[in-house]
Formats: sequence, structure tokens, C-alpha cells
Amino acid sequence: MTPVKRKIKDIILHKGPLSIADFMTVALTDSEHGYYRKKMPLGSKGDFVTSPDISQIFGEIIGIWILALFTKKEKFKEIQIVDLGGGRGTLLSDIKRVLGAKVTNYIFLDINNKLIKIQKKNIKESLHFRRLEDIPEKPTIFIGNEFLDTFPVNQFIKNKDCWREICIDNGDQELIFCHKKTKLSKLLDSQKLINIKINAIIEINFRSRNFIKKISSFIKRNNGGALFFDYGYTDGYGDTLQAIKGSEFVNPLNEPGLADITSHVDFRDIITQAKDSMVDVWGPDTQGSFLIKMGAIERLKSLERMSDVKTKKELRLGLSRLIDEDKMGKLFKVFAITSNKFPSPEGFTCGTTST
Ligand SMILES: C[S@@+](CC[C@H](N)C(=O)[O-])C[C@H]1O[C@@H](n2cnc3c(N)ncnc32)[C@H](O)[C@@H]1O
Repeated sequence: MTPVKRKIKDIILHKGPLSIADFMTVALTDSEHGYYRKKMPLGSKGDFVTSPDISQIFGEIIGIWILALFTKKEKFKEIQIVDLGGGRGTLLSDIKRVLGAKVTNYIFLDINNKLIKIQKKNIKESLHFRRLEDIPEKPTIFIGNEFLDTFPVNQFIKNKDCWREICIDNGDQELIFCHKKTKLSKLLDSQKLINIKINAIIEINFRSRNFIKKISSFIKRNNGGALFFDYGYTDGYGDTLQAIKGSEFVNPLNEPGLADITSHVDFRDIITQAKDSMVDVWGPDTQGSFLIKMGAIERLKSLERMSDVKTKKELRLGLSRLIDEDKMGKLFKVFAITSNKFPSPEGFTCGTTST
């Protein structure tokens, strides 16, 4: 049994069943054994590979997006770029290559000591923080790739006459799911969720709602923007809890602490929070459409001109993985937040302004 599982079983023994969000919090961020504290999650030896490791074009395009936004507005020297959950620092390094000497302030927000070490190696002058509250107050561009999906989610199931929260309890040996009336499920009873069928599951991510509110108000106070990429949905509802270990889907309850447990991002919900904070919101659009609009194919062609046959093939395969609809191009979405003093950013088909 993993140390985290033992800890979770013990908590349940003393306090009763845990919500999925509380279970995920321990499994992912427990200070001793949590997945994001201990494991090296990323890369070919980790549990999954992310866009910056698939193609350098991903980060370069984000660099171009930042250039376009700031050329229209602020003085570059004053801005800072913050990579939320910066992984191995590949993304920020690719962005930095595009921005050149124009920007000198690079920051990582992360909690994984192994990754923080690699980030420091990759961008020597970077600053590192663990909490959003510690980021210096100045014009900022936040980037979050596969960051929002790390936040713990609550799940609820609709019964005939009320809602119940899906929780985790001790079974004979294993952890098991159970349904409970909780403070949060009782709150749902008073909401008009009449179009949802009996036995349907809905997810609410209170932590990411809160985070987006904080980011939005930071941007409103200081100027700047944020660009988020993640897998998720814009319509509907359902159970999207998943766990990945060694690039395979596994049962989230089996080996907490050793598997990455995530849920799909509910973009409509997140964007509603941002709009309530009086910033402008752009998208969500699909990752494929954004990258193509921002010139990813032109960038591929120019890289190909400088490459040998093998590299050309790798470059082409990498970009097709990021933009093709049957790969990451459609499931992955992108949305931006900008201070409402800014002109509209590049790359989006639609903007939804708050004011
Ligand atoms: C799925 S990885 C994505 C990494 C990177 N953005 C990329 O695209 O390769 C999630 C990242 O978020 C970090 N992370 C997870 N939970 C976090 C938290 N609560 N606060 C800050 N960083 C966190 C992880 O350590 C990791 O670097």
C-alpha cells in the first residue's frame, strides 16, 4: 500500500469519508508523499508528455502571442512572465528565446522540488514561488499549460429527491466510492438544476474557481494577461475524474501518490468566474485553431528549411500531434484573460468582454 493510501485510510477512519477534492489534495500535494511533491511526472520517463516537450513551436507561438500583446501596449522591460506549474521549464525557455532581451523577469510557480531544480537550471535568472500571493505586483503575463486540471474537483450525483456528494470511504481492503449528503450537496438542493437527469454526475472545481478569481483580480490591479491551455469541455457535464501512471489510465483509488489524478476543465464555469472579476476573456478556442491562427504552420516551414530529413519528420509529427483534431488539437482548449485596458489579443475567433 502506498504511504498516501495509508494516510488517507487513517484520515477516513478518524473523520469519516473524504470528498474527492480532499482525497485529491492529499494524493497530489501531501507535503511528504503527494504525487506533485515526490514524483518526476513529466517526460519520457514520467507519467505523461506535455505540449512543450512535443514541439518547440508550442512555446515559440506563445512567445509571439506575448510580443503581439505587448507591442500594442506596455513597455516590455517592466513586465514579468509567470509560468504556472512550470514543469521542466521547457515552455518558459522557448518563450524566452522569442522574447530575447526585451523581457528580463521570469518566474515559476510550482511545488515540486525536483522540477523547481530543473527550472532553475534552465532559466538561471528565474524567480521561484509556491503561492500566487507571493508574486510581485507588476504588469504580468501568466501562462498555464495543463495547470488548471491539477486542482481538486468535487463530484455530486443527482438522486430522485436530492443531491449527494461522491466521497471516498474505506472498503474491506481497498478505498471505495460512496454517496453522502454533505454541506455542499445540500447547497445544490436549493439550486435550479432541473435539466439534469437522475443519476447524472456533475463536477464543481471550487479551487480553480478561486484561483481564476485571484488571477483575474491580479491582472485587473496590475495590467497584463493570462493564457491557459488544458483539456476539457465547454458544454455538458459528467464524470471526468482520471488517473495516469506510466502513460496508462489507472484506477484513481488504487495507488494515490504514485498516479497523476486530474479532471477535465469546465471552461464555461471558469470563464464565468473570470468575467465576474471585470477582466476581458477570449475564447475558449481549440488549441489547434489557436496555434494555426498564430502562425504555427509558417513556423514549421521555416524550421524545416534549416533541418535535416530526420528532424523535419520529428518537427512535422510534433506539430501534427498538437494541432490535429484527432490528437490534441480539439480536446485541448485555450482561453485568455486580459486587463480591460488592453486591445484584443491575437489568435482568438471570439472575445467575450466583461464590461
Ligand atoms: C501537468 S504538469 C504541467 C507542466 C508544464 N506546464 C508543461 O506544460 O509541461 C503540472 C505542473 O503543475 C505543478 N503543480 C501541481 N500542483 C500545483 C500547485 N498546487 N501549485 C503550483 N504548482 C503545481 C506540477 O509540479 C507541474 O509542474
